[in-house]
Amino acid sequence: AQEGDLKGKTILITTGPTYEKIDPVRFIGNYSSGKMGFALADECASRGARVLLVTGPVQRTTRYPMAERRDVESAAQMYEAATSLFPQADAAILCAAVADYTPEHVADEKIKREKTGNMTLALKPTQDIAAALGRMKADSTERKVLVGFALETHNEQQNAEDKLKRKNLDFIVLNSLNDKGAGFRYDTNKVTIIDAEGRREYPLKTKDEVAVDIVDRLAEVLNQ
Ligand code: C5P
Repeated sequence: AQEGDLKGKTILITTGPTYEKIDPVRFIGNYSSGKMGFALADECASRGARVLLVTGPVQRTTRYPMAERRDVESAAQMYEAATSLFPQADAAILCAAVADYTPEHVADEKIKREKTGNMTLALKPTQDIAAALGRMKADSTERKVLVGFALETHNEQQNAEDKLKRKNLDFIVLNSLNDKGAGFRYDTNKVTIIDAEGRREYPLKTKDEVAVDIVDRLAEVLNQ
């Protein structure tokens, strides 16, 4: 970690889960706590970056002041916020656990229990924020660095490499659900950073310490 090595840089971070509304009282969500993204936001801010934080629903505050914080709920709202902020960013770290599907229709009234039988909810795909920023990066005249996350249960290495290419990322942080203490809700994480050149495995650490490793790598890429 280098003091002030991100001075003059604007970094967009997405974090947290998304909530996809089913009816006025229900949603589809996930277990993302936002811990990793908030740790990254504070690490970037502590090293002098201007941080633009877009977060899904979490009860969390940063220790450092953010240049901007947008609290959103759905994947569609997160897409709006992230794509509108990315033009002013030098880099983006996409840490959010964005829903892949959202209900096709949101019911105006609370859906009632059927008297008998099962019930089916029609879902449609959401937009991939990382892929959209990957296209914006390709079209931009300024250099932009894109960092993604991958949480896999199987074929982790191959899936992560596919995502790196498909989403036009500079590097991807792989955390495996197979590692004890890593991922959702834990205070610790065990990551592998993968780029076009190769991979580097890190030991199990607190999310604050993992944030230092990831931001070290980001600063290296940004300043090279
Ligand atoms: O394809 P998958 O969801 O596994 O990719 C994970 C990466 O893509 C993460 O960096 C995540 O934040 C990002 N992502 C996104 N928008 C989506 C889905 C994933 O930004 N709709």
